[in-house]
Amino acid sequence: MPARDSEPLYGGKQSGRVTIRDIAAAKARGEKWAMLTAYDALTAGIFDETGIPVLLVGDSAGNVVFGHDTTVPVTVDDLIPLTAAVVRGTKRAMIVADLPFGSYQSSPAQALETASRFLKEAGAHAIKLEGGQRVAPQVEELVAAGVPVMAHIGLTPQSVHAFGGFRVQGRGDEAGERLVRDAKAMEAAGAFSVVLEGIPAELGARITEALSIPTIGIGAGAECDAQVLVWQDMAGLSPRSPKFAKRYAEIGNILREAAAEYASDVASGAFPSEQYSYK
Ligand code: KIV
Repeated sequence: MPARDSEPLYGGKQSGRVTIRDIAAAKARGEKWAMLTAYDALTAGIFDETGIPVLLVGDSAGNVVFGHDTTVPVTVDDLIPLTAAVVRGTKRAMIVADLPFGSYQSSPAQALETASRFLKEAGAHAIKLEGGQRVAPQVEELVAAGVPVMAHIGLTPQSVHAFGGFRVQGRGDEAGERLVRDAKAMEAAGAFSVVLEGIPAELGARITEALSIPTIGIGAGAECDAQVLVWQDMAGLSPRSPKFAKRYAEIGNILREAAAEYASDVASGAFPSEQYSYK
């Protein structure tokens, strides 16, 4: 095993990009790590410098970039330029691209065609797709073709209309069992990790214990191997954040104050002063 497999994933000094081998080694070591979403080069660069090992170009871009109510309208053409920007803005993080609704469900061949676009046109290192047992053939096809796959089960936002809203999933014995089966099916199909979204913490712990691949929780409790948040929720740019998202800053307020001060300086003539003018 290369020496870097023994280095901590988060904050460890590594040369080159984080790979799925590093992710697997972290699970074996019991090391927890953080994933964030990113949609542009500058923000991704900051997270990369901070040492966040995996960045997800999520279809949550539908909400936080494009202003939709759900992720359903997001297209491949929406996400390809964002993914390319995130890849260009980073040096170390593994960049995972989300396959949008309707771009992989029809068949394994459709999934491979879409994933190929993200790898070839945007430079993504892995893809994420939603669904458990029902997308196992897609995951197998992608893995066989050499595409690392992050699975995503539980409160999968692309199925919001089927769920009748954004509701916690996996409550009750039967629903919980189904999610355990989904998680195991994703592992068996070759996924290198699985996102668990919006499920009871006890179920998150149970699935994490049952799998040898890492679980990445978002509203799935503290026992998951890793956690993911939409960065605008984490940093307080979203007007409000879901219950599971801790706001580590209030970036929205800082931006509001900066914009107001700038506008006021322009109105008063204080900006641009001589310092900001060419002689
Ligand atoms: O699209 C997204 O950002 C996601 C994460 C929240 C897991 O799927």
